[in-house]
Amino acid sequence: MTGKLMQAVSYDSYGKGAAGLKHVEIPVPTPGKGEMLIKVEAVSINPVDWKMQNGVARPVFPPKFPYVPLTDVAGEVVEVGSGVEKFKVGDKIVTYLGRPGGGLAEYALAKESPAVQRPPEVSAADASCLVVAGCTALHALTVSGGLKLDKSEQLTNVLVTNGSGGVGHYAVQLAKLGNTHVTATCGARNIEFVKSLGADEVLDYKTPEGASLKSPSGLKYDLVIHCTVGIPWSTFKANLTPTGKVIDLTPGGGTIWNYAVNKLTFSKKQLLPLIVVPKGEEIECLVNLMKEGKIKTVIDSRYPLSRAEEGWAKSMEGHATGKVVIECET
Ligand SMILES: NC(=O)c1ccc[n+]([C@@H]2O[C@H](COP(=O)([O-])OP(=O)(O)OC[C@H]3O[C@@H](n4cnc5c(N)ncnc54)[C@H](OP(=O)(O)O)[C@@H]3O)[C@@H](O)[C@H]2O)c1
Repeated sequence: MTGKLMQAVSYDSYGKGAAGLKHVEIPVPTPGKGEMLIKVEAVSINPVDWKMQNGVARPVFPPKFPYVPLTDVAGEVVEVGSGVEKFKVGDKIVTYLGRPGGGLAEYALAKESPAVQRPPEVSAADASCLVVAGCTALHALTVSGGLKLDKSEQLTNVLVTNGSGGVGHYAVQLAKLGNTHVTATCGARNIEFVKSLGADEVLDYKTPEGASLKSPSGLKYDLVIHCTVGIPWSTFKANLTPTGKVIDLTPGGGTIWNYAVNKLTFSKKQLLPLIVVPKGEEIECLVNLMKEGKIKTVIDSRYPLSRAEEGWAKSMEGHATGKVVIECET
């Protein structure tokens, strides 16, 4: 592919949101040692992608300008660099591109790890959504939360805040694979949707009952997967079992402060910040669960690469139900 040009979408400064995205024609990259060139079929958007554009992690992310964003891709291997052993040309894969990004383009470079094979039963769009959102839900529940995704344990009461979003819609479904009672919060328009994912009880976050997080059946929570912002620790604390844990996926200064205070006071109720970097074995676990029909991806909206800025704007509005996906025309 040396010398060939491709369509891509990049930004060259912080801020500006969807208006800062530019359609560009740039050379197709060449895979180096341990890398593969993939023809992108679908790529999904996470809030971290536009938060990075806003400068939340400057100067580390993005590593340079102009930057082709997005990391969660499904595509076909079209070229392999030296040293790649697990994959060959023609393989359909799903992977996380990490800090270099590059997913919002016709072709992208992917490392051998954490890529996994995508079986034909799982569509490219569905698979691309699993990467950050699915791995975060899985990691928060099982590694941070200690939940087993079978029915072998005692009943665990789980709360998922924002059960309608990218992470939360997976968290509700995954939690229900364990022996759990799941309460979730969402907006009124999504109550039936979140119930359809398996939630036993749903609270409208815009009502006083929803804001209080009180379970309608009076249960206290053993584990909270916190997928939104703006809920004080005191509200969680009042609704936790004596050893209940809150896993905060958008940790700010307040989370770090309360985490430290809880440690210093030997509190058995815990608030734990969590940032997840998707691993191959987690992506594979999710792909297998999807292949077996145990979880599904719900796609809010999909856009062709030529209209990527509309998908970007949709994600930035913060009202997607499930995931936002960009698909490359074939
Ligand atoms: N730590 C990590 O590794 C990690 C990984 C992934 C994501 N995250 C973070 O986790 C958060 C959620 O990400 P996401 O991709 O799931 O977001 P998302 O898909 O953009 O969330 C959109 C959904 O949030 C709902 N919502 C908004 N405010 C709410 C509230 N106060 N209570 C309940 N629901 C509310 C909206 O419902 P309405 O339209 O009805 O308002 C909408 O359905 C983000 O802050 C993201 O940065 C962290």
